[in-house]
Amino acid sequence: MAARLLDGVAVATAIRAEVAPAVAAFTAKMGRPPGLGIVLVGNDPASEVYVGSKLKSAGEAGLRADLQRLPAHASLADLMAVVDGLNRSDAHDGILVQSPLPDGMGADAERQVFDAVRADKDVDGFHPVNVGRLVQNRATLVACTPSGVIELLERSQIRIAGARAVVIGRSDIVGKPMALLLLHRHATVTICHSKTSNLPRVAAEADIVVAAIGRPGFVTRDFVKPGATVVDVGTTPVSDRAVVERLFAPGSKRLAAFAKRGQLVVGDVHPNVAEVAGALSPVPGGVGPLTIALLLRNTLLAAQARSQGR
Ligand code: GUN
Repeated sequence: MAARLLDGVAVATAIRAEVAPAVAAFTAKMGRPPGLGIVLVGNDPASEVYVGSKLKSAGEAGLRADLQRLPAHASLADLMAVVDGLNRSDAHDGILVQSPLPDGMGADAERQVFDAVRADKDVDGFHPVNVGRLVQNRATLVACTPSGVIELLERSQIRIAGARAVVIGRSDIVGKPMALLLLHRHATVTICHSKTSNLPRVAAEADIVVAAIGRPGFVTRDFVKPGATVVDVGTTPVSDRAVVERLFAPGSKRLAAFAKRGQLVVGDVHPNVAEVAGALSPVPGGVGPLTIALLLRNTLLAAQARSQGR
């Protein structure tokens, strides 16, 4: 039997519908909308698309959203000056510096910049204070993608308490916060990574698998217990025809989309997982729309907390 599809678009629409009236109420009370400052350094094509979607969605939700751009050759000091300005701005409740930063900024630039964003404006949930609060299960601002996965599971009536959950990937942005959020909801959590021995066997014990490693089609049907829930966080742009043809059947819609555009955004989960999983989040239309919805909610939460002096 084919897996039930977990509809990220529908869940994101529901979250946005909750955020919009709260944004309107904040705006009426404070005389200004919640404000989000987005910083984009350089012209990475994927980042351009993501930032464009974030600005559009923020506007639709009634937020103020400003984009500050820096050229790819900008220095770390230039970027820090922009962050400092947003940290001091009364009009901005949330700050997001789009990742990745250009290589020329240095290997440690991203960490330094994320550390420099005020914790109470850190709508990405990347600041060490917010990560620490997450560890203690008392965070307000939590990374958007893993929060979105939780919303997708809970609003799709997938039971987390008592479940065995396997998170594949240990990044600071997705894997680690994902594991903590599942743990706080009483799952028994295992984090797998590139050094995990016999990863398919470990994953196949799970009731919930979250794949966040950025390797197209890595999770195949042998990783999945029949009936398990599989959430695909992968979004890797692929332009190699051989890779796409290995994943998608001749005549499939995804192959047709590739033929048209010469590129396809591909998840970490192989399509054959749909034959064994009980529920599966698609790419596109799964986790992606939720990341933006949670960014809007985090901006609202940051604005509410700041206005209450919390
Ligand atoms: N680049 C890709 N995803 C994200 C995200 O969630 N936050 C930031 N700041 N950059 C990203």
